[in-house]
Amino acid sequence: MSVMHGPSKWASLIREEHVHGSLYVDPAIFEAELEKIWYRTWVYVGHASEVPQPNDFVMKSIGPQAVIMTRDSAGRIHLLLNRCSHRGNQLCLTRKGNARSFTCPYHGWSFANDGQLRAVPYPSGYEGVDKGGLGLGRVPRIDSYKGFVFGSFAAQGPSLEQHLGAAREAIDRLVANSPEGEIEITAGFLKHRVKSNWKFLFENETDGYHPQFVHASIFSVADSRIGGLYGAKSTAVTRYLGDGHSENDLRPEFRRMGNRLAWFGTFAEKFPDYVSRMQGAYGADKADQIMIDGTPHIMVFPNLFIAEIQIFVLQAVAVDDTVQHVTALQFKGAPELNRRMRQQTMGSVGSAGFLLADDAEMYERTQRGVQSRDPEWLFLGRGKHRERVDEQGFLVGDVTDEVASRGFWKHYRSLMDAE
Ligand code: FES
Ligand SMILES: [Fe+2]
Repeated sequence: MSVMHGPSKWASLIREEHVHGSLYVDPAIFEAELEKIWYRTWVYVGHASEVPQPNDFVMKSIGPQAVIMTRDSAGRIHLLLNRCSHRGNQLCLTRKGNARSFTCPYHGWSFANDGQLRAVPYPSGYEGVDKGGLGLGRVPRIDSYKGFVFGSFAAQGPSLEQHLGAAREAIDRLVANSPEGEIEITAGFLKHRVKSNWKFLFENETDGYHPQFVHASIFSVADSRIGGLYGAKSTAVTRYLGDGHSENDLRPEFRRMGNRLAWFGTFAEKFPDYVSRMQGAYGADKADQIMIDGTPHIMVFPNLFIAEIQIFVLQAVAVDDTVQHVTALQFKGAPELNRRMRQQTMGSVGSAGFLLADDAEMYERTQRGVQSRDPEWLFLGRGKHRERVDEQGFLVGDVTDEVASRGFWKHYRSLMDAE
């Protein structure tokens, strides 16, 4: 497609501390984002543990594109597009399973799980036709980090390692909470659809300003101390990690408390097996530090939100339509912890959960509100005057400051400006 907006257009919509409301509501801008972001950069698709056995497959997505993540019989993972190469019918209608091949329901073409066309009914009708050129479409680049599988529709471009940049360290921090150094995505997904632009969700995930207000009810019902971590007096920080990624780093507060598993609202004494496995794996001091620090709260551009005990995968479907795919994290070798992960996930982001529903309401109200004509701009200047650079060279602000949003928009503009 032709992209309608040249560099000057983006410069006129995105300023240092302001962004124009049309960025969230203009369908032409969404189309341009598909080309410049969703079909170009690395996008999180799924986790290797979702296809553990040869011939396993699971349905995933990259924005509006349906993707079948398969593991072939040799163990290699593929990202195939769910479109028959004959006349375009949807090939796979099952959410997950185990299959060596996929047969199209329309005229019966069948494809191996590495995407090759395997057989066609009544083959004499295709005499002289090269079957090699009729395989399934695929996401041209695929790579993974610590089991997290990403795809890029751009045949060339930065490596996944370059794209993830500083986010890799946060993923390392996450998997370290398993005594075996691995996470698994095995708890099943909940899907939440919101009539809102994906960027409202993205920006909200590391917005440390809203929890005290939007989530006041769950904090009071659950008698949780999490709310206080996002207050004006909190020593937690919001950090822009570059390349669009950002985090709310709550470790300063957890270190001040100094209690193992306080980040999880519990006590190490309740999980003796976990504690001894962690100490066996890392040594007592390092294990204790990991258990005090907890898991990260990080938004990986453009669609993977690691939220302490869950992951949220954002799927941009249309300018005002976004699906969040949510699942509890599971830590290999930590069954007691995993049970609590699942229970808390149901309580916070389940169908009757207290947390996600509150955010979802804000997403939809903001989508409606931003369509008002005046004022035209959103203001993202909170904490600009007190932004600082930390010892590793990252921009940080107080936890309630809008450092992450400003970083996001800078990165967004660089991608949209690119040829
Ligand atoms: S469209 Fe799939 S076999 Fe014809
Ligand atoms: Fe929230």
